Amino acid sequence: MPAQYVVSGPAYAAGAEGDTIMGLDGRVAFVSGGGRGIGRGIVACLARDGADVAINYRRDETAARETAAAVRALGRRAEVYQADVSDWAAARAMSDAVLRDFGAVDILVNNAGIASRGLSVAYTDPAEMGRVVHTHVFAAFYLAKLFLPTMRERARGDIVMISSSATRSLAANGAPYNMAKAALEALAKTLAKEERDHGIRVNVVAPGLVETEMGRRLARAVRGVRDIHELDPVSPFGFVCQPEDIGNAVAFLCSDGGRYITNQVLYVDGGGFDTRRTRGQV
Ligand SMILES: NC(=O)c1ccc[n+]([C@@H]2O[C@H](COP(=O)([O-])OP(=O)(O)OC[C@H]3O[C@@H](n4cnc5c(N)ncnc54)[C@H](OP(=O)(O)O)[C@@H]3O)[C@@H](O)[C@H]2O)c1
Repeated sequence: MPAQYVVSGPAYAAGAEGDTIMGLDGRVAFVSGGGRGIGRGIVACLARDGADVAINYRRDETAARETAAAVRALGRRAEVYQADVSDWAAARAMSDAVLRDFGAVDILVNNAGIASRGLSVAYTDPAEMGRVVHTHVFAAFYLAKLFLPTMRERARGDIVMISSSATRSLAANGAPYNMAKAALEALAKTLAKEERDHGIRVNVVAPGLVETEMGRRLARAVRGVRDIHELDPVSPFGFVCQPEDIGNAVAFLCSDGGRYITNQVLYVDGGGFDTRRTRGQV
């Protein structure tokens, strides 16, 4: 357990003094798209804090198996499951397998996602709209629907949706992605109200630019840089956000420390990019 999260005092009376607030021991997490990118960072942080993890992937089996091996090296259980989560039948078959293997899921992280092509609505192919919305929204709905029955039977459940700071700006040329992430947040806020009486917390984590395959592509397309690290000097705190920064936020929300937090959107974007022409001015 990381020592920096040790807490004590009456607020944590349920645990002995010196307990960590990040403890996820005995809990089972399912992470969609957990094999690489932000999903891998989330898996790593949940496993570090004690969770066993079911890792979903779509195409990249090698990455998923590497991620699972890293979890097992921490002494936690990890299994990998191939499924296109935007496909109801595939998601259902996968959830059956996960529940057979683990018995239940306590933490559901809807992370799997794809970017849109960056075209205006006038030039957006309806097929692209369908693909993006299905991947972000229908998949999250499917997985919540599939895992909720067993989650409701547990002492506590957590659902975390990985959205994007794109929902703050809703910038031009991003309709499929903007619409998908806005709908994902709507699903989270609806679920938060429906599931509170079942002890299930539902929150959204909304990253800004993160160093992943998607982030590198975005940095090239939108910011015009070949290497994402060219953006370090203009990034908050002098570096581009890393997958573990998102994973730490997810792990906190699912921990005892996050027990009173539901129905919230947590932006993990360092406060956004600095738009001043000259930095360091006060
Ligand atoms: N990177 C950023 O700057 C950024 C910023 C804000 C929000 N986000 C969000 O964070 C999440 C993760 O993004 P990322 O940056 O890690 O992207 P990434 O590097 O492109 O990885 C995408 C992940 O999603 C999985 N995936 C995609 N479609 C899937 C499907 N239909 N079924 C199952 N898995 C699927 C991929 O699995 P396979 O590799 O197996 O295909 C992969 O694990 C996404 O929801 C994204 O919108 C990213």
